[in-house]
Amino acid sequence: MKVLVIGSGGREHALVWKLAQSPKAEKIFAIPGNPGIAELAECVAGISIEDNGAVVSFAKEHGIDLVVVGPEVPLMNGIVDALNEAGIRAFGPKRAAAKLEGSKSFSKELMKKYGIPTAKYEVFTDAAAARAYVEQEGAPIVIKADGLAAGKGVIVAMTKEQALHAIDDIMEDQAFGSAGSRVVIEEFMEGEEASLLAFTDGKTICPMISSQDHKRAYDGDEGPNTGGMGTYAPAPVMTEENLRLATENILKPVIAAMQQEGHPYQGCLYAGLMITSEGPKVVEFNARFGDPETQVVLPLLESDLVGIMCACADGTLAEQEIKWSKGSAVCVVLASGGYPGSYRKGYEITGLGKAKALNTLVFHAGTGEKDGKILTAGGRVLGIVATGGDVREAVDKAYKGVGEVSFQDMHYRKDIAHRALERL
Ligand code: AMP
Ligand code: GLY
Repeated sequence: MKVLVIGSGGREHALVWKLAQSPKAEKIFAIPGNPGIAELAECVAGISIEDNGAVVSFAKEHGIDLVVVGPEVPLMNGIVDALNEAGIRAFGPKRAAAKLEGSKSFSKELMKKYGIPTAKYEVFTDAAAARAYVEQEGAPIVIKADGLAAGKGVIVAMTKEQALHAIDDIMEDQAFGSAGSRVVIEEFMEGEEASLLAFTDGKTICPMISSQDHKRAYDGDEGPNTGGMGTYAPAPVMTEENLRLATENILKPVIAAMQQEGHPYQGCLYAGLMITSEGPKVVEFNARFGDPETQVVLPLLESDLVGIMCACADGTLAEQEIKWSKGSAVCVVLASGGYPGSYRKGYEITGLGKAKALNTLVFHAGTGEKDGKILTAGGRVLGIVATGGDVREAVDKAYKGVGEVSFQDMHYRKDIAHRALERL
């Protein structure tokens, strides 16, 4: 089979790496891919992943049997609708189903209607009404700009004053631009967060191994929010009982709800969960694989990913057997100094071969190539991943690999998986 992967980050490198192990994959293409992906697949330049027509034409011309969509933007642009209309099989939700990620109010309303556990919430377009609600509910409380605010539009207010201040910033001073003309005010959920990704064909849903991301830039969960500075899998907070509760009360009902609403959801569903004293509750849904969750989940998958993805697209997931290894995996993200703020690019990266020789996986996230050298080209540059019999072994191996890699102003967290290690 010929497989095409859309995207260029660490998540897509991990996807290509796993797909390439399949005896079914005779050839893999990536649009646009990256220098790490180029070792396993043919990277195609000159096609925008936001141009559905161009992607469909490429897939037709090259006889692609399966398209795997990495990032959310093409999903929300209806790339899967366009591919399916042209008779091409694709892994990922159609536009109407991708709204589960694209619109907070759509997903919150769906959860309310179908009784899926999540924080209680109200939507406001009027600042005075929002302030009155905060006065009534008290703190801690969570204030969110409704539109896309590049992940920065969420304020977890520990006091009433902070909450009132956030409403002023978002609604009166438009700190997030027009994204702040509507705010969602949510009940604060106390607990530990975990990510639960799942394969689904729209009827059957199979959870993957759980994982935990580290969103803050600095050690000890300090500093600004990032796209994710590291992950590990499985997450011990996701006990067998919590996994059962999440599957029965969240994953199965949301898939049934999407079907009921006429928008069957196919692909990878990412549930961002808060494990509270009342069990798992939904923080958010994403319509795609997590990044860098994918980098630790897929190395623990023992089954054939091409087969699973085709089954999701074809509606035959119930017949698939999906096996996971018993070990752990850890990913440490190496970022450009300054990220998530401004940073410089174009620095040479050394030591990649030495890190691989230590039995780590080196997933490229933001790299470029010039004159045979690998250079930094993004905020998150690399993910160094190791597997082991337990999390301790995986952490030690990953950090040994990290020790071999260097580039100017390289920054990474030294405490990835600390919550899992503390539990040992
Ligand atoms: P979101 O963009 O909705 O995923 O929120 C970003 C982060 O804010 C989450 O990863 C949580 O750490 C935190 N957060 C969001 N909503 C809540 C909530 N209702 N209670 C507690 N923390 C929250
Ligand atoms: N790691 C968080 C995300 O992919 O959204």
